[in-house]
Amino acid sequence: MLSSLLSCGVLASAIFASCAATVTTVSVDGTAAHSIPPLLFGQMFEASQYGDGGIYAELLQNRAFQQVKPNIIDALFGWAPINGASINVIADPIPLSGALPNSLELTIPSGSLGQVGFGNEGYWGINVNASWTYNASFYYRFPRASNFSGKLTVMLQSSIGVVYANASVPVSGSTTAWMQVMVHLTPTSSPVSTTNIFTVTVDGASAIGETINFAMFSLFPPTFKGRVNGLRMDIAQACFHLDSTQTLYDMKPSFFRFPGGNNLGQSFSTRWQWNATVGNLTDRPGRMGNWGYINTDGLGLLEYLYLCEDMEMEPIMAVWAGYSLDGASLPENDLAPYIQQAIDQINFVIGNPATSKPAALRASLGHPEPFHLQYVEIGNEDFLASESYMYRWKDFAEHLEATFPHLKFIATSHPFNHTLDPIPKQYDNHVYQTPGWFAENAFYYDSAERNGTYYFEGEYAVVSTNASDLFGKPFNGRLVYPNMQGSVGEAAFMTGLERNSDIVFAASYAPLLMNTANYQWSPNLIAFDASHVYPSTSFYTQQLFSLNRGTEYFPSTLPLENGTLYWSVTRDAPTNTVIIKIANTGVTAEEMLFELPFKSVHSTGNATVLSGSATANNSPETPNAVMPVISQIKTGKSFSYTAAAYSVNVLRVEAK
Ligand SMILES: *[C@@H]1O[C@H](CO)[C@@H](O)[C@H](O)[C@H]1NC(C)=O
Ligand SMILES: *[C@@H]1O[C@H](CO)[C@@H](O)[C@H](O)[C@H]1NC(C)=O
Ligand SMILES: *[C@@H]1O[C@H](CO)[C@@H](O)[C@H](O)[C@H]1NC(C)=O
Ligand SMILES: *[C@@H]1O[C@H](CO)[C@@H](O)[C@H](O)[C@H]1NC(C)=O
Ligand SMILES: *[C@@H]1O[C@H](CO)[C@@H](O)[C@H](O)[C@H]1NC(C)=O
Ligand SMILES: *[C@@H]1O[C@H](CO)[C@@H](O)[C@H](O)[C@H]1NC(C)=O
Ligand SMILES: *[C@@H]1O[C@H](CO)[C@@H](O)[C@H](O)[C@H]1NC(C)=O
Ligand SMILES: *[C@@H]1O[C@H](CO)[C@@H](O)[C@H](O)[C@H]1NC(C)=O
Ligand SMILES: *[C@@H]1O[C@H](CO)[C@@H](O)[C@H](O)[C@H]1NC(C)=O
Ligand SMILES: *[C@@H]1O[C@H](CO)[C@@H](O)[C@H](O)[C@H]1NC(C)=O
Ligand SMILES: *[C@@H]1O[C@H](CO)[C@@H](O)[C@H](O)[C@H]1NC(C)=O
Repeated sequence: MLSSLLSCGVLASAIFASCAATVTTVSVDGTAAHSIPPLLFGQMFEASQYGDGGIYAELLQNRAFQQVKPNIIDALFGWAPINGASINVIADPIPLSGALPNSLELTIPSGSLGQVGFGNEGYWGINVNASWTYNASFYYRFPRASNFSGKLTVMLQSSIGVVYANASVPVSGSTTAWMQVMVHLTPTSSPVSTTNIFTVTVDGASAIGETINFAMFSLFPPTFKGRVNGLRMDIAQACFHLDSTQTLYDMKPSFFRFPGGNNLGQSFSTRWQWNATVGNLTDRPGRMGNWGYINTDGLGLLEYLYLCEDMEMEPIMAVWAGYSLDGASLPENDLAPYIQQAIDQINFVIGNPATSKPAALRASLGHPEPFHLQYVEIGNEDFLASESYMYRWKDFAEHLEATFPHLKFIATSHPFNHTLDPIPKQYDNHVYQTPGWFAENAFYYDSAERNGTYYFEGEYAVVSTNASDLFGKPFNGRLVYPNMQGSVGEAAFMTGLERNSDIVFAASYAPLLMNTANYQWSPNLIAFDASHVYPSTSFYTQQLFSLNRGTEYFPSTLPLENGTLYWSVTRDAPTNTVIIKIANTGVTAEEMLFELPFKSVHSTGNATVLSGSATANNSPETPNAVMPVISQIKTGKSFSYTAAAYSVNVLRVEAK
């Protein structure tokens, strides 16, 4: 920590004169104004290959040929023939299940020699790790009974045929019924490259003329907390709970919003339906998601709920409310079955198995006791269809409130804009803007009436530093990765959320995840590829706020509405620690003087600082360019602190 004189002295002489004059004094009020709400910081789950090809640990892309048109080459995405094999996606006359009508048909051409079959390239790569044992499985059947007897070879190999793991299973053509194969693959080495493939082959010469149909492939590495059908370890750690290493078993988000967001539905027919996402994987048809790719729905409602339970997060669960992003709203007379479907969805989560069929289904799937649930969101961004939301909100909210009087329902229209009946007690507010907008709007909630309405800042992010480019496509001017200028703007805004956390009960940056190989939206909190995660500057900003919440908010001198310094003060009562968060959105370091009203204040404290140039970011090329740095600072009842240019700062000091 530099003394105030020194910090002024090191500035260029031109600025020297103004230096002393610009010390910002912050006096803290000695009486807590309100407690910090338990859900203040959490996660919103979306956007680009965030489930499939992201946090859901399945490694094979297009594993079950869901929602594809058979007999066209496009239906084979992710797959390729090996050694002259003939492969095709067919509508199987004897499908594996009603939900999975398509199979992969392999025919061994005449003249075949060596191993013949097909391979899957994964989601832009497969992470082959010799520390792991992979569970591989699929179903096969011989559509025509034959005398064939041989074996299928299952391998993990590089794109040029270096074999890392192999296993073989005997097969016979004596039956046309579906048979399941499950094998373990343990690689002998860990290639750095993820350009690897999963292959299934048969000895060509002995199988000439044979046809074998395949369905529902799967390849899983070990998963987060060991759950079957579970989550990719490094991404799950990054999203929820960060350990002492670079991954994140410590963000400690307190809520998780699902299934969307936009994921609730692009169109009526492709909307998210809870009942299509539960039960055996072979009973899940999948759906065309709204981010331009088919969803397996392997990560379904029960998986989301287990995730919340495992991570001690509160679910904020949305129900589809009669409107899809393509703009179509259902007429009021048609709403009844969808209100019932929403009731069923909620009963699956919290209903009594003795009286509710969806709850009985949950019990049969291994979770008889209800999950914890307080908040249900009615729709997503329904301000986009605010006319129809008048009756949709009314009908959904009235029925759901009557059925579940102890739940809290969240409206998704603009809070200060129009009159909904019944009056919402909770609103979800979304904003994608520039750093400047966020800093200016640090005071957004200061003037909101304290009248029993509470706010969820459910999606917010700096998406561009140029107001003309907020939603331009392709993303000219849009950030690919969050940068310091943006993250500092978000931090300024977040100090306002803390100040107003008597009425702002929850907030989440959005979206959460982005596969660098295939993304439709940027920036996102955490980027990843087939083998690594890249937490952004905004990630660390969220983490600093989440891990340093405190239990009560202390009023202090208000920041200037047109200034570059923003702050908020809380205290963690159990540890008697005063926590001061500061965002400096300016291009120069700023000197601050804090006056704490407590009887005794420790003479040293900690400062954790995230700072860098305006454009500094963490990307796959420079993953650790900006990281929080902790140091000791001199503190006391009155102490000065210099906040670096473009910095997010958390000061912690013991005070009684
Ligand atoms: C390989 O697995 C080990 C053990 O789980 C893990 O520590 C390491 O990060 C993994 N490597 C990659 C590239 O995923
Ligand atoms: C199996 O082999 C037997 C004896 O060679 C032959 O008669 C029969 O037609 C074969 N069956 C099939 C399905 O090819
Ligand atoms: C498959 O694994 C076995 C050992 O389990 C090994 O002997 C054989 O060479 C492997 N095959 C290939 C093609 O790597
Ligand atoms: C893999 O298979 C083993 C044993 O067959 C099982 O214990 C484990 O839970 C499975 N792992 C996953 C991620 O499915
Ligand atoms: C889910 O339930 C709806 C009715 O609520 C029904 O129309 C639909 O077919 C079901 N989907 C699946 C996959 O079971
Ligand atoms: C899942 O599949 C198993 C075995 O096929 C079956 O016994 C079980 O009833 C199925 N579960 C559901 C919920 O359909
Ligand atoms: C509280 O005031 C806001 C306007 O600031 C209004 O939109 C909302 O409906 C009011 N809530 C209640 C419960 O009256
Ligand atoms: C009211 O809604 C319109 C869009 O319908 C939006 O542009 C405007 O910002 C909203 N006003 C407020 C105060 O949220
Ligand atoms: C902002 O975006 C607009 C539209 O793409 C462009 O014309 C303008 O040059 C950009 N301004 C800056 C400062 O990048
Ligand atoms: C900033 O706002 C304060 C009070 O709101 C005002 O006195 C001051 O002139 C403003 N400064 C600038 C540069 O706009
Ligand atoms: C300062 O950091 C040290 C080391 O991380 C920690 O033990 C101590 O509790 C921190 N002090 C405060 C007041 O948070």
